[in-house]
Amino acid sequence: MTIEIKDSEALEKMRIVGALAARQLEMIEEHIKPGISTGELDRICHAYTINEQDAIPAPLNYRGFPKSICTSVNHVVCHGIPSDDKVLKSGDIVNVDVTLIKDGYHGDTSKTFIVGTAGVLAERLTQVCKESLYLGIQAVKPGAHLGDIGAAIQIYVEKNRFSIVREYCGHGIGTVFHDEPQVLHYGKKGTGPELKSGMTFTIEPMINAGKAAVKLLPDQWTVVTKDHKLTAQWEHTIAVTETGYEILTLRNDDTIPRCA
Ligand code: MF3
Ligand code: CO
Ligand code: CO
Repeated sequence: MTIEIKDSEALEKMRIVGALAARQLEMIEEHIKPGISTGELDRICHAYTINEQDAIPAPLNYRGFPKSICTSVNHVVCHGIPSDDKVLKSGDIVNVDVTLIKDGYHGDTSKTFIVGTAGVLAERLTQVCKESLYLGIQAVKPGAHLGDIGAAIQIYVEKNRFSIVREYCGHGIGTVFHDEPQVLHYGKKGTGPELKSGMTFTIEPMINAGKAAVKLLPDQWTVVTKDHKLTAQWEHTIAVTETGYEILTLRNDDTIPRCA
């Protein structure tokens, strides 16, 4: 396995597209209210990407995916297909996952939004998922190992009695959408390749309120929890720097906890 090291020119392009992806998630927030359909969210994002950001929505036609974003509601783990028939209601949680291409480079990020007011479990699941992502990110520095990221996420999620989806993982990213390495959200400290300055990849834990098992729906995209319990996901695109990490898709609502 070879993990690409980006030079400063490539990293600058990753920064630009990462920021566009971040701005898009900030933009969509005000639209996420009871009564809106995920199909409408897709149209808003598509128009924004093309007209306001002069970028390309990477999911559209990617391996046959039919829409510009993924919208995964409640028990949908990931790759939910936006639809006019899926109308959000108060108490739902919805992950909006956007990936943009600008100047040949990809920026990939997602967060789970709460629609209206959610129950205690939904609040806690999304919060623990977000915190697990930040803990994974904080394990990133040159000389650390890829397994350190998964270990940090796994320890925290399991301590909170939630389970981690195994079938999907983070990924290297750059001119290729899903590149090497695979970034697992579980694992052992000190295992896997060593991280080096200039590597770029996503970290995108999916965590379940019930069991870890998932299944693929007949549309060949939508992934759901087997027990139909709630699931949440959070994703950033990260660069390894000389001293640690840079979050290329950082938003103004990101609240990175300080390292203990
Ligand atoms: N954005 C997703 C990820 O985080 C991939 C979506 S692929 C699609 O890797 F085809 F479903 F859009
Ligand atoms: Co991704
Ligand atoms: Co994504």
